[in-house]
Amino acid sequence: MNENRPLGEHVRFGSLDSLSQHLVTTAWDVSHRAFCFQSNFPVGSAILAENAAGETKVFHGCNVENNFFPATICAERNAGTTAVAEGYTRFSAVAVVCRKIPGGSPCGLCRQFLTQFGLDATLLCVVDHDKNVQLGTVGDLLPAATGLVLPLSDLPRTDAARVQRLLELKARSYVPYSKNPRGAIFRAANAAGSFKNFSGMACDNASYGGSIAAENVAMYAARTAGYTVSPLLSVTVSDVHSHNPIDGEVLQVLREFGKNPDIILIDDSRMLVTDLIRLLPDSFGPESL
Ligand code: THU
Repeated sequence: MNENRPLGEHVRFGSLDSLSQHLVTTAWDVSHRAFCFQSNFPVGSAILAENAAGETKVFHGCNVENNFFPATICAERNAGTTAVAEGYTRFSAVAVVCRKIPGGSPCGLCRQFLTQFGLDATLLCVVDHDKNVQLGTVGDLLPAATGLVLPLSDLPRTDAARVQRLLELKARSYVPYSKNPRGAIFRAANAAGSFKNFSGMACDNASYGGSIAAENVAMYAARTAGYTVSPLLSVTVSDVHSHNPIDGEVLQVLREFGKNPDIILIDDSRMLVTDLIRLLPDSFGPESL
């Protein structure tokens, strides 16, 4: 697969049921309150959620930026955290509007957040000023990997050495809170065409949000050293065939290195060769802004 295909199917605003139309319109309206002085990229989201008593309610949110870029919160997480704070933890539909259309699909971190509260939730991504949408499910945002699977017992020497190194990194992880050790190696070339490997391990922080993924440690070291071309990310996972094998935020960081970098997943017995488009379909990227 080589294209960045839109998620779900195209549906005209007029063909949506009235509740979906209400969600889309609510998301559109709240995007006007976006606090986006850094990006000038207003986003709005509306989420239909259910509480333990079976009651449903619509929550909305816009993106809220900060002088310190990482403190930015996206519209989807703003809406979603408001719902959870009121006790509505089952999401059944999510609408997203990036008003500078085209360019609208949730970022990797929001995908990771949304999948926590309902894989089956309907996803409505507005694609134009007539409020027509791509209609899919939240589960589509972070699918399982597909690709060539090889047994670890039968790998060429360079691959076997990489697996060995990944397991060492995993074992060294600092994970007192998540208890989720992980090793990553990011391989890329510099402008002169020479390749280098960069290592990373998972590093937790007591604030949880200040934790950094193994893959991100490796990718940021590579960028710091000027190695950003022809990227390949190799990472340990619990099961190469699991749903959402690499965290959404990591996939979003990898997206900054190109539309479709190569990815290798390694579990206890297998290696799976895949790429970013298969793990982060219809991604939000540098071209979206
Ligand atoms: N943004 C969202 O609100 N949701 C997304 O899924 C993608 C990005 C916001 C964050 C930031 O304020 C601006 O859009 C540019 O990334």
